[in-house]
Amino acid sequence: MKSRYEALQEELMGRQRVWLITGVAGFIGSNLLETLLKLNQKVVGIDNLETGYQKNMDQALEGAGCSPESGQFRFIEGDITRLEDCREACEGVDYILHQAALGSVPRSIKDPIHTNGANIDGFLNMLVAARDAGVKRFVYAASSSTYGDHPDLPKVEERIGSPLSPYAVTKLVNELYAGVFARTYGFRTIGLRYFNIFGKRQDPQGAYAAVIPKWVSTILAGEACVINGDGETSRDFCYIDNAVQMNLLAATAEEEAADQVYNVALNDRTSLNQLYKMVEERLIQRVEGVVSRPPSYRDFRAGDVRHSQADISKAEKMLGYEPTQKVAVGLDEAMAWYVSESGQ
Ligand SMILES: NC(=O)c1ccc[n+]([C@@H]2O[C@H](COP(=O)([O-])OP(=O)(O)OC[C@H]3O[C@@H](n4cnc5c(N)ncnc54)[C@H](O)[C@@H]3O)[C@@H](O)[C@H]2O)c1
Repeated sequence: MKSRYEALQEELMGRQRVWLITGVAGFIGSNLLETLLKLNQKVVGIDNLETGYQKNMDQALEGAGCSPESGQFRFIEGDITRLEDCREACEGVDYILHQAALGSVPRSIKDPIHTNGANIDGFLNMLVAARDAGVKRFVYAASSSTYGDHPDLPKVEERIGSPLSPYAVTKLVNELYAGVFARTYGFRTIGLRYFNIFGKRQDPQGAYAAVIPKWVSTILAGEACVINGDGETSRDFCYIDNAVQMNLLAATAEEEAADQVYNVALNDRTSLNQLYKMVEERLIQRVEGVVSRPPSYRDFRAGDVRHSQADISKAEKMLGYEPTQKVAVGLDEAMAWYVSESGQ
């Protein structure tokens, strides 16, 4: 029997709609773009290119076999902290996949005001613009950081603790605003609490790079990787294709699934020590000259939780979510991109 996602992809191929992706030049946004273009959808994208890149959009178009002249994709270089930019982006749109935000817990600890601007002011602008434009569905990137210091494992959507960083506060406030927009204006949204998403186009550069791309570029540079803590910290790493699937399922779900948040993960747990081994093994297999080298360990990082693992039964039941790639398969797929990007 076909999964809901397979059926949806077939349906979309024969029914062109207009989608807005905010943060389209980023990691998750550009992967959403590639999938929607492959499904013959029209896409509008907005990004201020603060942490995203033109080349991510170029690669997405190329991956989808879509020429920039086709008119299938329109890019607005704009900022969601400006309401008029949000209004322009929302014009004539059916579905919104709101990804634009400043990620990274350490970045938010260093500069909470800047993170607050993009993640809260920007989010509120997008809600107002989307409500006024009468879009069919607003799906937004929430975060597993909202579980904060709650001890339960696996994480269940209804039980959250106190936020442990300014970033986590911004993502919790997004959920609070989303709930208020449902109750006050009848504007119903869906929040996706991403758990450590990884895959191609996740930025390997800079102080705030995520762990997998950072380790890949460090190993390829012949340097030692650093693990924060003892390496037994664990996460529910989730391959990008599963996150893309969740976005499309959420955007097109029945009304009864709206005004909710959902975990986006695998209900699986990988420690940093296990992950390091998996990454290193794959690079040794693929790239000549890469040799095994133990990581070095340093202090635990402020704002990090010890373990994270998601219950995904709500997404399975309400949205028909069926993750297609486990961590190992996702790493196999992502590694080809990381290696080719590093020019090896
Ligand atoms: N990657 C993960 O594991 C993960 C986990 C939890 C939540 N999230 C959330 O998912 C979303 C996408 O994350 P990502 O990993 O693709 O990050 P990313 O940095 O690659 O993408 C974010 C994009 O938003 C853009 N942006 C930032 N501020 C903007 C502004 N004011 N106006 C317009 N564009 C702006 C950036 O330029 C970038 O292209 C974010 O909301 C993030 O908080 C990601």
